[in-house]
Amino acid sequence: MNHTEFPEMQDAEVHTNSYLRPRWPFASVEDGLLHIDGKSVEEIARKYGTPFYMIIEKEVRSRLKRFRKAFAYRPFQPQYAVKCNSNPAILQIIREEGFEADTSSMGEIMLALKAGFRPDQITLTNQYKSPEELHLAISLEIKALGIDSLEDLEDMVRMAETLNKEANIFLRINANIRRGEDYDTSRHQYGIPLESAEEAIRIAAREKHTRLAGLHWHGAYVPEPGVYLEALRKITDLAEFAKRAGNPLEYLDFGGGFPAEYGDEKAFTPEEVGESFSRTLERIIKQKGLERPTLIFEPGKFIVANAGLAVFRVVSFKNFGEQKILISDGGTYNMLPDPLIWDCYYHILPASRMDEAPDVRYAAIKGNTCDHLDSIAKGRMLPPLRKGDLLVATDCGAYSNVMASNFNGRKIPPMLMLRKDGEIEMIRRPQTYEELFSPELDREPREDDRLVADILREHLDDKLTARRLEHKGFLLQHP
Ligand SMILES: Cc1ncc(COP(=O)(O)O)c(C=O)c1O
Repeated sequence: MNHTEFPEMQDAEVHTNSYLRPRWPFASVEDGLLHIDGKSVEEIARKYGTPFYMIIEKEVRSRLKRFRKAFAYRPFQPQYAVKCNSNPAILQIIREEGFEADTSSMGEIMLALKAGFRPDQITLTNQYKSPEELHLAISLEIKALGIDSLEDLEDMVRMAETLNKEANIFLRINANIRRGEDYDTSRHQYGIPLESAEEAIRIAAREKHTRLAGLHWHGAYVPEPGVYLEALRKITDLAEFAKRAGNPLEYLDFGGGFPAEYGDEKAFTPEEVGESFSRTLERIIKQKGLERPTLIFEPGKFIVANAGLAVFRVVSFKNFGEQKILISDGGTYNMLPDPLIWDCYYHILPASRMDEAPDVRYAAIKGNTCDHLDSIAKGRMLPPLRKGDLLVATDCGAYSNVMASNFNGRKIPPMLMLRKDGEIEMIRRPQTYEELFSPELDREPREDDRLVADILREHLDDKLTARRLEHKGFLLQHP
């Protein structure tokens, strides 16, 4: 087609391109409307109402495959950080793609089990494990408990003694890594400080009820690939120490922290880490004579952030002279909390007017709560919008739904999944008001938790019955 003969067509294409990015291969424009995998978002919104989250299955699968391929080292057993988006439908996809589950609480262990992971495919890593969590994790014989401090080790050993069990542990080490002003892991709360790591290894190696199976490092919001290499060198020095202390390690776990793409900032890729990391690990194993460990990573946001959208409608406008504020039926507190916490930039797509020029500056795109901080985005050029127009925030599949609250007595929106066969499935239904308010309206403490009881019955029948756990007084009993 010759664009000079159809100037309006040329404009439309230019505007569409200015809104879309290559990292959303599922997005296209037809008749000025945003389509996802060929489906009109407007039609989906008419059917399900707004606001809603949407996860694109094909994109999740393709990112899982891509992450695995980025590392040539074998054995390699990637895990997914469940906290990032713990919806069981997503966890099932993760499992089908051969990833295991990295959990941070008893609740996440239960979700992982519900999604079909076996206990030996689940690790539990956090700073503190309650007696309930320790009891469940040790009784289930999960793959490993990530031990974060000597105090955490002490609690774990006491519970393992009580249950007369031996538990696999990974010691989580803070490798003390700095890059410039903004990145300094000694300011993070995770892990045993490098200075005390050898002592912790010695203690863990001689404990009767633990098996020191691995070392763990997590460098949240890693700024550049070289950080993983520095962690690799420091952690493998400790693996050599452990071996010399008579405790060769079976696993090395380097956590998550791979960036997702937000806004137009360039993010480094797993491929940029994978090649040099795998090569360096091979070399170190030879140099240090280590037994070949299984390599673990636990990506979260890299897998799901760019595969998720939030869809909401324009409901009203407040024009203060030149300053135009747009109110939507979406929001931060109930749907997309990240912009409240850090300087998170979500692209906002004018899903109903993708072929119109971004001629209007909106000072803020607000949510529908009482707080003036409730801005999903600030200072955005969009076409002149009307009440009822659809907006789509991109790249919000990670840490959004799981951190959203019921602030202002509002429901957390439902979540849809666009399945790989093109079907749309609701993978989280809207909440009911009864669910929101029953802890306050019905204040009788409840000792029965059906989900816990089901899990125990299903997984511990032949070892420890639910009844016995109940009598021991650890589970099902809340202070
Ligand atoms: C232990 C652990 N592993 C993995 C992750 C996932 O991190 P990300 O989403 O940055 O990949 C986290 C995030 O908090 C974590 O604490």
